[in-house]
Amino acid sequence: MGRIIIFTGKGGVGKTTVAAAHALKAAREGKRTLIVSTDMAHSLSDIFMEDIKNEVTKIQKDLWALEVDANYEMEQYYGSILNAFKKMITFANEEDAESFEDIVTFPGMEELFSLLKIKELYEKDIYDLIVVDCAPTGETLSLLKFPELFAWYMEKLFPIGKVALKIIRPISKAAFKIEMPDNVAINDIEKLYIKLFELQNLLRNRDICSIRLVTIPEKMVLEETKRNYMYLNLYNFNVDGLYINRILPNKIENSFFDEWKRIQKKYMEEIHSVFTHIPMYEINWYEVDINGIQGLERIIEDSLKGDDIFKVLKTTVNETFEKLEKGYKLNVYLPFTDKRDFDLFESGIDIIIKMGNFKRIIPMPNILRNYSISKANLNEGCLSIYFE
Ligand SMILES: Nc1ncnc2c1ncn2[C@@H]1O[C@H](COP(=O)(O)OP(=O)(O)OP(=O)(O)O)[C@@H](O)[C@H]1O
Ligand SMILES: [Mg+2]
Repeated sequence: MGRIIIFTGKGGVGKTTVAAAHALKAAREGKRTLIVSTDMAHSLSDIFMEDIKNEVTKIQKDLWALEVDANYEMEQYYGSILNAFKKMITFANEEDAESFEDIVTFPGMEELFSLLKIKELYEKDIYDLIVVDCAPTGETLSLLKFPELFAWYMEKLFPIGKVALKIIRPISKAAFKIEMPDNVAINDIEKLYIKLFELQNLLRNRDICSIRLVTIPEKMVLEETKRNYMYLNLYNFNVDGLYINRILPNKIENSFFDEWKRIQKKYMEEIHSVFTHIPMYEINWYEVDINGIQGLERIIEDSLKGDDIFKVLKTTVNETFEKLEKGYKLNVYLPFTDKRDFDLFESGIDIIIKMGNFKRIIPMPNILRNYSISKANLNEGCLSIYFE
């Protein structure tokens, strides 16, 4: 069974560099490795000093690379669906049709299709390891919440079966001036819907997929890293590694850096005290940019020793149901969260946890269909929801 390791973090912290170093190390160990960038601003070509395209390109023994063309992937999967959406509404003019297109291509949509590409490549079972270099945090997060959200919308928008549509379509056209999606579009919607579910299962499979955070010892970056970690847990992904990049080496003896070293020391201590539960790797700040194989080799040599690094480093259990005397309890692991940060709802057969712009939808197991939430509390990073 192949592995997928996804690197994420704030802009400019070293995601591409760290991902590339892992890919190179794995290939050198004889693992058939593919490194994929889902960031629209691709930078694999620069770091490997090779012309990497939007097709899988071999760059070394056991090492392949791909810069996904998200627009192309989207057109492939989504073209007919988009057309169907457009046809559902009769537009007065071209301009309206175009602005409609902007609405149905949600932000983060392209990256979602990059992930579907990764799923497709994973299923071919050619690679021992797929390393994913992501766009900066914000986009990656919306990408991770997307499959769930999108599937949820599709369920609400298209609850009617194909047969019903066949009957409704001619009527709706005549009576309501609305054209329902045709069979091809409906088929595509169903297929996409299934793929999104499979994608979620793949990304949440703890034996296959690891998410690794890259950070640097600075206030703003650390704050974002904590938030990112909390959201990744909210969406039930397995974060099993933290990379602290750009650490000033002690041996630097220029007084200009004294204050910087002090600041870094402070945030290093904070990182170690708050992320007590995930394996950490420390990477020095080098005197030059990491470009090309030699730079990557330095990182591998200095910071990524050992052959365990590609294994699942830690497995978090994020969601558990517990039987109680009077009902059930759902525990959701939500580190670094405050009571004021979230809202909790029941919606039909779903439990919805809302935090900021994020909405996690947890379907209630059948056994709980006749229960409702009686109370909830947050204790040391664990949200407990009681059903009676
Ligand atoms: N430890 C380091 N020492 C010196 N230079 C570094 C180090 N880590 C990264 N760099 C350099 O910093 C720059 C940004 O790194 P990188 O492209 O890996 O970040 P990123 O997180 O992928 O950025 P983006 O969010 O733009 O995708 C690059 O020029 C890289 O060579
Ligand atoms: Mg990058």
